[in-house]
Formats: sequence, C-alpha cells, structure tokens
Amino acid sequence: MEVIETIDEMRRFSRAARREGRTIGFVPTLGALHDGHRALIRRSVSECDCTVVSIFLNPAQFDREEDLRTYPRTLERDCGICRGEGVDAVFGPSEKEMYRDGSMVMISIAHFADRLCGMSRPGHFRGVMLVVAKLFNIVEPDVAYFGEKDIQQLIIVKRMVQDLNFPVQIRAVPLVRDKDGLALSSRNARLSASERRTALKLSRTLGRIREMVEEAESRSPGTPLAVSEVLAEVAEDLVSDPGIELDYLAAVDMETLEDVRHVKKGTIFALAAYVGETRLIDNWIYR
Ligand code: PAF
Repeated sequence: MEVIETIDEMRRFSRAARREGRTIGFVPTLGALHDGHRALIRRSVSECDCTVVSIFLNPAQFDREEDLRTYPRTLERDCGICRGEGVDAVFGPSEKEMYRDGSMVMISIAHFADRLCGMSRPGHFRGVMLVVAKLFNIVEPDVAYFGEKDIQQLIIVKRMVQDLNFPVQIRAVPLVRDKDGLALSSRNARLSASERRTALKLSRTLGRIREMVEEAESRSPGTPLAVSEVLAEVAEDLVSDPGIELDYLAAVDMETLEDVRHVKKGTIFALAAYVGETRLIDNWIYR
C-alpha cells in the first residue's frame, strides 16, 4: 500500500491506474477509522479494482475550534487498518498541501444545508463540499463511498455531483452500530463510560420509533401515521434527560430533506444531540 502526501503524486497514482484500465474506488475520511469506515472500504475493495482512502482532518468543515482540536488523530493505526483491508493507496495530505493559498472559492447549496445539522453548524456543509470537490478532482475516482450515518452529507454530496457534473458515482453504505446499538463515530472515543450509557438513549429512541412505525404498518397497512404522534411519544424522554442536550429530532423526506407530516417509505428520522461536550448524530430510514 502506498501512502501519498502530495496532490501531484496522488494524480500520478490515479492516472496510472486508469491507464491500466483499473476502476478506482474512493473512501474519503477524516481519519480515526472505525468499523463504519471498514464497511465503506470493504465495499470499495469488493467492487473496484483499486481503492484509495483519504485521511484528511479538514479544518474548513469544523465550526468549533474545540471540536477540531480534540478530534482523534490516529494516522499510523488508520494506515494499519487500510493495509489490512487491502487498500491500494492512502492519501494523507497536510493542510498546507490541500489549502496552499487558502480558498477563495466556496461551494454552497441552496436549501439542503440550512436544515438539520446545518442549522447549528453554520458553514459546515460548505466546508464538506469544498474538500470533497477538491478530493474528487485530485483522486479522480470512478466510485466514491459515503456512509448513511451522515445522511445529510450524503444527500448534499449526491446533489453536488449531479449539479456540477462530476464524473463519479456515489454509493451509500448503511450505518454501522456497535454491539450496544450506538452508531459508530470517531467522536464516540471522547465519551466517558457514563456518557456512553446516556448516549445509548439516542439509538433506543430511534429503535422505539421504528417499532411504532412497523407496528402501525402491520396493524393498519396503508393508513398514514402522523409524524407528530411518533415524535410526541419519544421526544419528552430525550428532552427531560439532564445528560442530553437535544439539537433536533426530525422526520424528513429522503429526496428533498423537507419535513414530512405523515410517515411514508423514504422518511428519515434523524437526530443530533450533545452528550457532555460531544455532538452525536443518528438516524433511521423507513424503507
Ligand atoms: O464524513 C466525513 O468523514 C467527512 O465529512 C468527509 C466526507 C471525509 C469530508 O471531509
């Protein structure tokens, strides 16, 4: 496995692979890899001839200095995981390499970025779109893999690729949970043991929502279930927990990210909350 630090070298690698007729799968990451990333990497390794993983802690997408400062950095371990999974190249540029002269260009997206996480993380999705666009131009992948845990990011990246005609296919990979149900995230490493117990309430809430939706569907198939009824049943329990500061709990349409009033296939139940200093997100998609 090659570890590549410069943009020129990364391009040389990708172009050589393309000349040899190999397809390139790409998994962009912030590092601190976990089993959720492994699922993305495994899909790429199984579907593409060659897999590139980027490990770049992108400052442009962090809205809080503290979050960036305390984000786990585990490059050596990450490279070991990539090697073990059969990755062909890790692209790990420095901040200077990626943003040599800063960036005057901004990519913004109307509507999709000003809801859910966008409401409390101003500029976050602009930073994500900027770095993802740069990485696509540098790595030139055929296919890129994104996790459904960051569902809003996935929807925004898909739309950016469509509107800006990037020649890359975006593939969604289902969210991965730990044994206790907590959605895997690099930020989980920051939770104390008691915070982790508190955090389990987030996945349990989504589990309860799932039960309600599935029970209603089997009781009276086709009868629309009101979102307000579902959220009212679970919200109080979250809001009243002193260890949880709920940012949002919402039900939105998978295509438009608009709020939905009645549960239908393609409804995403999404939430974000602080547990201590750590911001966690989770979702369940009714398919
Ligand atoms: O989801 C992430 O890890 C990041 O937002 C991404 C896509 C690697 C961009 O920095």
